[in-house]
Amino acid sequence: MYQLNFDLNDFLTRFWHKEPVVIKNGFIDFEDPISPDEVAGLAMEEEIDSRFVSNLDGNWEVQHGPFESFESFPDTHSQLIVQAANHWHPGPRALSEPFRGLPNWLFDDVMVCLSMPEGGVGPHIDQYDVFICQGMGKRRWRVGDKGEYKDANHHTGLRQIEGFDPIIDEILEPGDILYIPPGFPHEGNTIEVSLSYSVGYRSPKKQELLNGFADFVLTNELGDKHFYDPNIQTRDEHGMIPTAEYNALNDMLMKLINDEDAKARWMGEQLSQSRHELDIMPADPPWQSDELQQFMEDGLYLEKVSGLKALYHEDNPSLVFINGETIELPEGCEAAAKVFCDMEYFSGEDLGAIANNPALLALLLDFCNQGLWYPQA
Ligand code: SIN
Ligand code: CO
Repeated sequence: MYQLNFDLNDFLTRFWHKEPVVIKNGFIDFEDPISPDEVAGLAMEEEIDSRFVSNLDGNWEVQHGPFESFESFPDTHSQLIVQAANHWHPGPRALSEPFRGLPNWLFDDVMVCLSMPEGGVGPHIDQYDVFICQGMGKRRWRVGDKGEYKDANHHTGLRQIEGFDPIIDEILEPGDILYIPPGFPHEGNTIEVSLSYSVGYRSPKKQELLNGFADFVLTNELGDKHFYDPNIQTRDEHGMIPTAEYNALNDMLMKLINDEDAKARWMGEQLSQSRHELDIMPADPPWQSDELQQFMEDGLYLEKVSGLKALYHEDNPSLVFINGETIELPEGCEAAAKVFCDMEYFSGEDLGAIANNPALLALLLDFCNQGLWYPQA
């Protein structure tokens, strides 16, 4: 079990969305959650998003996985990166656990980098909050101040910038953490063969919210009504949009935007949608309902598929949003929202009195058969 060596609340107050910081020995008794061979193994899988970045003699190259072999790859000036490794391996998942004090709706993934000496992705700016957790080996990190920086066109896939003056320049060792808020330029360079883990968070943009809501409106055929004014009158100003008509059109738009039920549903669906593929496997053979009931009565645990986002709104726990879908909980089963969404695994005891509710069991049967939850090993 991973434990932080600092108070997360205190950290949030001082640094979150504000400034980068190095936390020496950020973990208590840090051990790597995955081995270099396992990282290479993940990069060979079709469903897993991986890339290999090299910069031999200043030539930046990017290759995308899945990889068949690593034999021809240079063993310096290179880096193998696996995105959302927490979805595919229990180690990186465990590493994200101590950050659970941060909201799941902001969480993106744990990216793992296996870096060879002199390896890195060059100076760049991310729009992510990231905790770069250093595992084995050593890397030197430089971080500059927020500002305007010139794009460098060394490689279109790398979004590098020309350079920056560092406000942080430190060597990270196993168990150290570098936190970087969005917008701060940074560059990691590898001193000794290294494993590092980027626990990333992504704040949505205003335009993404509006775009997401517009998609929801269209998909659900909301507001499929034309402007209607049976009392229109002639006017001399043929080209003018009268204020009253502007206001009427604006009201149409605002009615849609202020449809609180629709907005709550859309937001739950959008925020619960994982940005990376999940390792979901339908149960085979499917569970039978008496089997599941017995499982719950035996006090055994069901575990959420790693990276699955299950969310609920504080003021309406009768709806849960799971991986982009709205699910209405059976009447009287609102307490299940906290169990499904706040916990990584649960037993019948966590559900309490509602554990025997037939409608809830039917829903749970569906979750298990879809492969969203599975029996804990
Ligand atoms: C790296 O570890 O070099 C890439 C991570 C990052 O800079 O975001
Ligand atoms: Co970065």
